[in-house]
Amino acid sequence: MINIGIIGYGYWGPNLVRNFFAAKDCCVKLVADARTERLQQLGIAFPCISGVRDADNIIYNSDIDAVVIATPVSTHFALARKAIAEGKHVLLEKPMASSVEEAEMLINLAEQKGVLLMVDHTFLYTGAVQKMKQLVEEHELGNIKYLDSTRINLGLFQSDINVLWDLAPHDISILNYIVDERPYSVNATGITHTNNSIENIAYLTINYPSGFIAHFNCSWTSPVKVRMMLIGGDQKMILYNDLEPTEKVKVYDTGYSYSNDEEKKQVLVDYRTGDIHVPKLTTTEALLGMANDFIACVQKKKQPVSSCQLGLDVVRILEASSKSIKHNGREVILEATTVPANHNGHEVLI
Ligand SMILES: NC(=O)c1ccc[n+]([C@@H]2O[C@H](COP(=O)([O-])OP(=O)(O)OC[C@H]3O[C@@H](n4cnc5c(N)ncnc54)[C@H](O)[C@@H]3O)[C@@H](O)[C@H]2O)c1
Repeated sequence: MINIGIIGYGYWGPNLVRNFFAAKDCCVKLVADARTERLQQLGIAFPCISGVRDADNIIYNSDIDAVVIATPVSTHFALARKAIAEGKHVLLEKPMASSVEEAEMLINLAEQKGVLLMVDHTFLYTGAVQKMKQLVEEHELGNIKYLDSTRINLGLFQSDINVLWDLAPHDISILNYIVDERPYSVNATGITHTNNSIENIAYLTINYPSGFIAHFNCSWTSPVKVRMMLIGGDQKMILYNDLEPTEKVKVYDTGYSYSNDEEKKQVLVDYRTGDIHVPKLTTTEALLGMANDFIACVQKKKQPVSSCQLGLDVVRILEASSKSIKHNGREVILEATTVPANHNGHEVLI
């Protein structure tokens, strides 16, 4: 039995409490939230779980083996560092930290202390994302050329992070999970329509050495909710609509081929449209899968699907996107070693 303490019972915390309550081989012993009204809600929903206002009552409690942190991003580093230093296993909500430096410090400390540090990138545990990974790995789409995602709605304006830090971790984690290749740079633009400097609409492009490209459109100011992703290969293409109740993933037998017309100096493109296949997906709640993975990895000392390394790569892209937004969309290099040889170097910020 792994004894768990959960810090943060705001919007997302209750989902974590409910799923760890249902997960195997663990017991939710304590929940902390600084707000008394949230602890009152906890008492109504889970009368058997004790609530405390001070997170230290969890972190310094010798009965607690693992700490789940579901507080705003700006608080992740300080809480996680304290918990890891106390020898607790830690599950951090996405994004794992506010900077690459913070994320790396947590990873190093967890290694030193021999504890598990994991990040909740919930979407990796959905049937839809598992299926898309399988289709890409089995080369069902051919060579993949692009991933394009739209995640927009009339969303809650956050006070500590912009719209990319809030919404894009989902899409970037899916991208990094499905695509093996490492990106070399990002370009991002964004705008704020309030009187602070926190962007509420942003566009992020991630560039890869092979010519594969990923693009994300995130907004808190859309009249409609859209959760749509396209993954295009040279054989087939996927449409993933997370708002569809059952047919979330559709595989289009659509493609094109091209040849060169030497005389006219033109590219000739031939299009092909075929059947649409709707694969069957597993429907277990993703958050329960994530909670079970965390517990199993603590017990068996193995690496989870949603590892801290994947969490760090997400933060690396987010940090570079913020830098690019500040410089009006100029390219920011992620990894100098993967920059293609024919790259035009003078537009680059490092
Ligand atoms: N995985 C997902 O799909 C998903 C979805 C939504 C939010 N999240 C993540 O969950 C985290 C929390 O988001 P939220 O929307 O629930 O925020 P929230 O503001 O609604 O809730 C955070 C809660 O933490 C409490 N808190 C903050 N600091 C504390 C401290 N030091 N001690 C005790 N309590 C403290 C606050 O009182 C608040 O109730 C964020 O990292 C967010 O990105 C993840």
